[in-house]
Amino acid sequence: MSDNPGVPAARSVHVRPGEELDLEEYNQRWHKIWADGLQPGQRFDAGKCSPLLLHLLSTGEAPAAGRRVLVPGCGRGYDVLAAATAGAALAVGLDLAQEAVAAASALRDESLTADAAARAQFEACDFFTYQHPDGPFDLGYDYTFLCALPPQARRAWAEAWARHLAPGGELVTLIFPVDPGADPDAGPPFPVTPELYESLLLAAGFERVKLERVPNGLSHPQRVGREWLGRWRLPSAAGLEHGTQSKF
Ligand SMILES: C[S@@+](CC[C@H](N)C(=O)[O-])C[C@H]1O[C@@H](n2cnc3c(N)ncnc32)[C@H](O)[C@@H]1O
Repeated sequence: MSDNPGVPAARSVHVRPGEELDLEEYNQRWHKIWADGLQPGQRFDAGKCSPLLLHLLSTGEAPAAGRRVLVPGCGRGYDVLAAATAGAALAVGLDLAQEAVAAASALRDESLTADAAARAQFEACDFFTYQHPDGPFDLGYDYTFLCALPPQARRAWAEAWARHLAPGGELVTLIFPVDPGADPDAGPPFPVTPELYESLLLAAGFERVKLERVPNGLSHPQRVGREWLGRWRLPSAAGLEHGTQSKF
């Protein structure tokens, strides 16, 4: 039974392929989890940024410096804080739950320098309808977000990423959980595969930059062997102009 009248208990759902799903009702689970006071280290909250993202930022493989970065489903915002610390011009974290945004903002204010904190923003809103007033972003980071969405929302997820990034923009996906044999329709987290990301993102107009297993040392310990890295890029404006040039 829920402690919060009107808000159903947060539990796994089983979604039959092709079945209509009430997304509003589904999303109540996230509000419930956060309203119940999710603590660092509980459930999906790993208590810190993924080692892989820190690696990509520090080696310059996916640099944030000077770029505008978007992190949907940011939860307590660890990845947003890492991007701001790595010099992002602006790092925006989105979460449906106001409580997540409050927790992320508090963590930002207690852990970042004033300069980095000014470049890390959190907003309580839906990834699918969000628009930043200054337009699309240069870099997106998606971790434990696609697996949080019901399978019916996947195509819209890829199309939303194509809208949120500028031409030439890059999307980094940390693909989790890759659990062969798990029921694909039970979640969240709904199990995913590298092939799923590839087919969704290529159909939405992205090009593949890289798709590979995450080395064991770059996963949270409990997620070792269950993660892949995908890097994807939208064609640049020049490429788009070239591709749409009139033959006359
Ligand atoms: C599995 S949790 C992952 C949180 C965070 N990425 C982490 O690793 O700690 C998924 C998060 O996405 C948020 N969320 C779910 N659907 C969303 C949507 N459509 N737009 C924005 N946030 C959403 C939930 O509230 C939840 O905090």
